[in-house]
Amino acid sequence: MTTPHILMCPPDHYGIEYEINPWMSRTRGASPDHARQQWRNLHDTLVQLGVQIELMTPQPGLPDLVFTANAGLVFGNRFFSSQFTHPERQCETPHFDAWFAAHGFTVEYLPEGVYFEGAGDALFCGPTLYAGYRIRSHAAGHIHLGNVLQRMVLPLELVDKRFYHLDTCFCPLAPGQAIYFPGAFDNYGRTVLEKHIPHLIPVIESEAERFACNAVVVGKKVVINAGSDRLAADLHAAGYECHFVKLDEFIKAGGSAKCLTLRLDGEDAAVWGD
Ligand code: ARG
Repeated sequence: MTTPHILMCPPDHYGIEYEINPWMSRTRGASPDHARQQWRNLHDTLVQLGVQIELMTPQPGLPDLVFTANAGLVFGNRFFSSQFTHPERQCETPHFDAWFAAHGFTVEYLPEGVYFEGAGDALFCGPTLYAGYRIRSHAAGHIHLGNVLQRMVLPLELVDKRFYHLDTCFCPLAPGQAIYFPGAFDNYGRTVLEKHIPHLIPVIESEAERFACNAVVVGKKVVINAGSDRLAADLHAAGYECHFVKLDEFIKAGGSAKCLTLRLDGEDAAVWGD
């Protein structure tokens, strides 16, 4: 196995400075010390699992830059830059683009006016791109990517505002295997998932609310926010080992383990080759 490679950004300027999803409330601010400690634990857990971490430089005034999953979509050495819905996050783009350009990626853009929030909403499971739309990303952007990459795209409408990015309610584990929270999708979306992914592990609502689906998968190890015992048991039965890291300071912003990372070499569940 080649060394898994992940991009993170230290939480030096992290905080709840605006409200762009139902989890965020300026009256419930984050504790900088706890956030720093929790982020460090996630970082160190990934390093222990053999992951090589790259670090972005934190920027003042960009509290959500820690959520590197939203930088864009990585495919080989191509980086498809996000086009954020909210002005509050749009200033992150030049920083992400500069990092990718400086690290040997070709930076590419979606058509103008199309919203797209990167690996938060676009996740490969096997050769297929599963694509969340309506709340943060437009379906048109996903279709565009499918054409450019010559991959099948399955757009999934996100119907519950709490699960506003696909990576808050769906997590590929391996080709043909994924975790999901059924309540975040409509009947059509659930049917699409059931039809295309033979091994689906459902998450109960109380654990989905703790961001159980927002997991970092490294081979057979799954790193998630603490407190999802039911999912841990189901994952164990499926041959996976859970590593819990307390990340409640980041849930205050609507993110957890997966959002704080961006896989640079392709998720284990993704099949990019022809
Ligand atoms: N506060 C950030 C936002 O609302 C959180 C992003 C979480 N990222 C994710 N990939 N789900 O945009």
